[in-house]
Amino acid sequence: MSIGTLGSESLRREMVDRLAADHAAKGLTLRPDVEAAMRVVPRHLYTPGVPLEEAYKDAAVITKRRGEETISSVSAPFLIAEMLGQAADALDGLEGRHVLEIGSGGYNASLLRELVGPVGSVTTVDIDPEVTDRAATCLAAAGYNDVTVVCADAEQPVEPGRRYDLIIVTAGTWDIPPAWRDQVTDNGVLVVPLRTFGMTRSWTLRRSGNRLDSVSDRQCGFVPVQGAGAHQMRYVDIADGVHLRLDEGQQVDPAAVASLLNQPRQEAWAGLSLPPRTVLADLDLWLATRLRPEVCEFVVLTAQEEAVTSGIVAPAWRFGTPATIDHGTFSYRSALRWTDRKFDLGAYAHGSAATAAAGRMVEHMRTWVDAGSPSPALHVLPAATPDGDLPDGAVLDKRHSRTVLTFTPQGGTP
Ligand SMILES: C[S@@+](CC[C@H](N)C(=O)[O-])C[C@H]1O[C@@H](n2cnc3c(N)ncnc32)[C@H](O)[C@@H]1O
Repeated sequence: MSIGTLGSESLRREMVDRLAADHAAKGLTLRPDVEAAMRVVPRHLYTPGVPLEEAYKDAAVITKRRGEETISSVSAPFLIAEMLGQAADALDGLEGRHVLEIGSGGYNASLLRELVGPVGSVTTVDIDPEVTDRAATCLAAAGYNDVTVVCADAEQPVEPGRRYDLIIVTAGTWDIPPAWRDQVTDNGVLVVPLRTFGMTRSWTLRRSGNRLDSVSDRQCGFVPVQGAGAHQMRYVDIADGVHLRLDEGQQVDPAAVASLLNQPRQEAWAGLSLPPRTVLADLDLWLATRLRPEVCEFVVLTAQEEAVTSGIVAPAWRFGTPATIDHGTFSYRSALRWTDRKFDLGAYAHGSAATAAAGRMVEHMRTWVDAGSPSPALHVLPAATPDGDLPDGAVLDKRHSRTVLTFTPQGGTP
């Protein structure tokens, strides 16, 4: 055994140990089957030219950029582990399953190959021939010769006439093209990083006829879907290191928001005492569904670390915090206020109606807690579905689908 092999084995062991600890810290369990696959597949063989230590870090390895934008990568191990866990939980294990992976890198496809076993099958598709060539070469080098690699835009059916128990999408999308639903078997599962209200979650969606209903979700970020399903997301600067994330079609005057940010800050607090494990990603989607109909613009605030440490903004999460722009006022969910290992929720606002705007945001936070801190469920129906056939909830119309977010209060109906 070479020194390189020994080094990669111990680095891989450490990576998986860290993943198990990371899952536990989030209140999740790293499934034994997913853990076993991750202990076997040599990730460094999918990241040629990258130092061994980097191949086994818990981070994406960027493999292709277009200008400043990352368009392909070998995904971060924690994200892959969580998504495989979502899929395996929903299907009660992946042994013998037929799987389509959208977005290739080789690494995830070989983990899937381990999970489905000899009776199952794995097809991986990528829109970019450089990526499929690379994935095919790496899969062969690692000894996974039984993965089908296809180069195509996955907006359309990949192997016409075929259906899969699982489609796992590894690029961030704004919509669900009909082909994804139609290629999943009834009761089969689509795991997909889908953006709603500017926030991406990896949703596990189970097919039932022509609709998809979620069974779990996780916070995540991905390189964007390209091709026919591309949907622009852009960032505008409102101060040094502070940006607003906007969806295609959203219009915001960055200079106007920048000048609001220079006005004095008002704050409001919910007066709560919440335990550390509270899942605030759920609150953010709740706020989106409540605030969007009430304000001129619901946006997502992001900030560089320096902008937070220098106090320009103090958002709840610098990678994506709900924010609103409304009648000369800019407000956002603030950083948490901790007392005795419990925390309170608050909002900061700048502008002419700052006190009222911060108060309104905080009121929605209290309502979420009073409802039992419910988690969201997502329902995806065809674009032609009449209003009367939609579940009760916040409707977001997309190109191919009508998506509805619902929250079921603990022990109650939505
Ligand atoms: C994060 S990478 C995939 C990572 C990979 N699954 C792994 O094993 O780590 C996302 C990939 O999605 C691909 N992609 C984007 N849009 C696509 C589309 N419409 N059809 C197929 N592939 C697409 C990109 O070319 C990119 O290589």
